[in-house]
Amino acid sequence: MEKIPVHTIHSFGFPLPVVLVGAEVNEKPACLTAAWAMPVESSPPMLAVALAPHHTTLGIDKHNEFSINVPGKNLAAETDFCGIVSGSRIDKSSLFTYFRGELEHAPMIQECPVTIECRVIKTVKVNRHTLYIGEAVNVYADSGRVKNGRLHGPDLDALLLSGTDRNYYAPGDFLAKGWSIGKTLMEKHTDGGQNHDR
Ligand SMILES: Cc1cc2nc3c(=O)[nH]c(=O)nc-3n(C[C@H](O)[C@H](O)[C@H](O)COP(=O)(O)O)c2cc1C
Repeated sequence: MEKIPVHTIHSFGFPLPVVLVGAEVNEKPACLTAAWAMPVESSPPMLAVALAPHHTTLGIDKHNEFSINVPGKNLAAETDFCGIVSGSRIDKSSLFTYFRGELEHAPMIQECPVTIECRVIKTVKVNRHTLYIGEAVNVYADSGRVKNGRLHGPDLDALLLSGTDRNYYAPGDFLAKGWSIGKTLMEKHTDGGQNHDR
């Protein structure tokens, strides 16, 4: 099929998980919605989030701490609200119940099934956005979502932002086993499966 250029650079046309980034501004919890967040290191575990200057980033810049909170699909309205309303104009601090872990200035959202407290390790100024790279000091999860000490993925009910239509979706049906379905191509494309990663 012919490839033609499109003008959706803002979202790049692929779905992204949506998170709430928490910080402390003027001694109060603050949060914003972010889709540009991802893990960037496994040991020690680190996450990065690309943020333009916002009310919430005032707190991150001051304390070098933030939280990543993964909302379930039941929090779609609250998540969207936090992404369209600024704490500089409207106090969003009563929208959620907050708790703290080890870090003093990284309030986490009780209503989110998974929350991560992060210490800023590095910032990279890109252009309007800054990439905040944080070490995940602790990850907390609702007990009902943990099996054998590990998070149970399908139970997360995460929110996905569709890159093309800018709407929210919930993850869909089970498709295939990860790090596994690719092995069906092993015989054809490698030396019989001897030479693959992990
Ligand atoms: C779905 C969605 C995703 C967003 N992703 C980001 C993002 O990744 N980075 C960013 O800087 N702003 C992002 N925003 C915008 C901020 O969340 C928004 O400007 C927010 O109101 C800032 O809040 P604050 O001023 O209280 O900190 C997003 C907004 C929405 C609705």
